[in-house]
Amino acid sequence: MSNQTHATSTDAPRETPPTIIVIFGASGDLTARKLAPAIFNLSKDDLLPESCYLIGYGRSSMSDEAFRDYLRESLASHSRRPIEEATWDALAPNISFHAGGYDELDSYKELDTKITAIEESLGSYAQCLFYVSTPPGVFMPILENLGTSGLAKRHKGQATASKVIIEKPFGRDLQSAHELNGVINRRFEESQVFRIDHYLGKETVQSLLVQRFANSIFEPVWNRNYVSSVQITVSENLGVGSRGGYYDRSGALRDMIQNHVMQLLALTAMEPPSSLDPEAIRDEKVKALQALKPVAFTGDDPEVVRGVYTEGLVDGQRADGYLEEEAIPQSSSTETYAALRLSLDNWRWKGVPFYIRSGKRLAMKASEIVVQFSRPPAILFGEGQRFKVEPNLLVIRIQPNEGITLYLNSKVPGLETKLQPIKLAFGYETTFGSNTPEAYERLILDALNGDGTLFIRGDEAETSWSLLSPVLEFWEAQGKNGLESYSAGTWGPLAADKLLLKGGHEWLTGKEYQ
Ligand code: BG6
Repeated sequence: MSNQTHATSTDAPRETPPTIIVIFGASGDLTARKLAPAIFNLSKDDLLPESCYLIGYGRSSMSDEAFRDYLRESLASHSRRPIEEATWDALAPNISFHAGGYDELDSYKELDTKITAIEESLGSYAQCLFYVSTPPGVFMPILENLGTSGLAKRHKGQATASKVIIEKPFGRDLQSAHELNGVINRRFEESQVFRIDHYLGKETVQSLLVQRFANSIFEPVWNRNYVSSVQITVSENLGVGSRGGYYDRSGALRDMIQNHVMQLLALTAMEPPSSLDPEAIRDEKVKALQALKPVAFTGDDPEVVRGVYTEGLVDGQRADGYLEEEAIPQSSSTETYAALRLSLDNWRWKGVPFYIRSGKRLAMKASEIVVQFSRPPAILFGEGQRFKVEPNLLVIRIQPNEGITLYLNSKVPGLETKLQPIKLAFGYETTFGSNTPEAYERLILDALNGDGTLFIRGDEAETSWSLLSPVLEFWEAQGKNGLESYSAGTWGPLAADKLLLKGGHEWLTGKEYQ
């Protein structure tokens, strides 16, 4: 940890002051699986500030030593690269644990005293990065107490001003997101706040902006004149596992669509920003989300489908249905799958359907954006059976096997004219090698540097909720009525295929073309 200068998402070198990272929910799963590995991998790459401290905050009492052991073990299981002794030894003495209730003001005051003592030992001010990684039920008391104790306002207006990262879920509907934003706005400046969506830290998601705006061939065709549909699939083959308690209060729409999928949609649909300034980018994303038309959830042609998985075969193994999973009540009407047909009422996208879907226990884990272009006029090719002219597709694969593939029609070699789609494929790993940084590494680094580009602004979260909250209210009122089912290991309920039929489309991710 010797180098204070590094690149951020805007690639501008910045000086990062001494930093104290305080993780609320330090003994939780996210700290072990993602946060600790990210922090140590940043340290390994010399990307942390020269003086960096880590304080775990949690309700259970734990000694500093026990917390260090806990982190050490989590690194062994979850770090993308081995962490050598030298990297560990550099940070380990600066790791401590602070036990306290999330609603106990005194505990925050003690934390403040601890932070001041670190500053005294350094002989300089340090910035605090508060990482709120707890269950959402305690977000409010944590944010309020950071405010009341004065921790939120430490070194206000200076380079060492406090920052706060807030994990998802950001509210559970429009009302609660609005209330959460209200507390945040009273306690922090927006520039101090980093609402995380780890999908924005994924390499391919970041490269979407580069691909769209650093290549001139896409812009002329990136609109209603050439695109016949856009599909976004974020599918998982795993079930809810041990997270049933959380998941059953959430469901696919809240857990994945409201945040991750809507972010992918915003980046795909947005207008070119005027600069790479975080606000310029976020302004355009909000405008794209604001252009989304309200979703029809009743009537002859509803634009939403929800489903729940039943027993099935996943990778050849029998998998339980959702109602058999741990902590799921039999009365549950939570959706493990959601699909929507959306449209944007704006100049660029008028009339182009955006199909989005996400679910658990589907046929495979895949996150993809598929831009389907219009078919060419059936004049030379495409009229007879011999010529099957497929629409061109641009497939942006976020995971796994990150890459971009363009599907074109080509002539099959031979004496007769026969057409077949071929692919021009780019794979990140083949071109750039493996071991790209984890999303959390990028996001923590950006937050340390005060770069909010890859974080969700308050109005973005609320705009997304304002589209989806009415759907959730409707579903809640309906209970199990209209909740489709699908066998684990398939691509979801049949009703979701019908969503696309009207427009003459079909879901492409997972289809033969790959
Ligand atoms: C999280 C959801 O935000 O994203 C989980 O809460 C989901 O339910 C996870 O499994 C998927 O993330 P990734 O990076 O594995 O696609």
